[in-house]
Amino acid sequence: MYKSGIFVAVAVAAVASASPLAARQGNDTTVPAFPITLGQLGYTHGHEIVAWAPTKTTMNDVCGNQASRTVIQTLNSGFPSNPLCDFSFTLEGKSSMSLMCTSNSTATEAQVTAIATNGEKSHTCVGLPINELSASCGAGSSLWQAYACQ
Ligand SMILES: *[C@@H]1O[C@H](CO)[C@@H](O)[C@H](O)[C@H]1NC(C)=O
Ligand SMILES: *[C@@H]1O[C@H](CO)[C@@H](O)[C@H](O)[C@H]1NC(C)=O
Repeated sequence: MYKSGIFVAVAVAAVASASPLAARQGNDTTVPAFPITLGQLGYTHGHEIVAWAPTKTTMNDVCGNQASRTVIQTLNSGFPSNPLCDFSFTLEGKSSMSLMCTSNSTATEAQVTAIATNGEKSHTCVGLPINELSASCGAGSSLWQAYACQ
């Protein structure tokens, strides 16, 4: 994994001209130029920690459309699918992203501080007040925003 801040900065300038085809292939590791929201999608027996791009995707989309959101971690009946922090995910075709946080405990306790792209910090995350930015998704499921990252 390359860790050069200089090359990451140069890559930002190339984002605007990156072809949509390359982005869809999911191996585009240039730094995303869009903000990212992290949220918790709760249902009866567990929840998912999800990421989405608020400039492209509404909360209703996140509720109803699996393709518009990226699931970073699923926690069913207390069993996490994978570590929350430092675990690679892809959003909007941008790969090699991961959460930087203080512990691998649940999202509310983990204090997500940033998002890294290729191991370099690319977005700073700010915790949002619980229950303030929430939506009912129907069928007993609900979504709330936990962190705004940009
Ligand atoms: C993604 O991988 C394919 C196949 O290895 C390659 O042809 C393509 O150039 C890659 N795209 C990016 C953006 O790296
Ligand atoms: C979270 O778990 C992963 C995998 O075990 C580990 O690489 C990473 O260092 C952990 N992060 C924190 C903040 O504890």
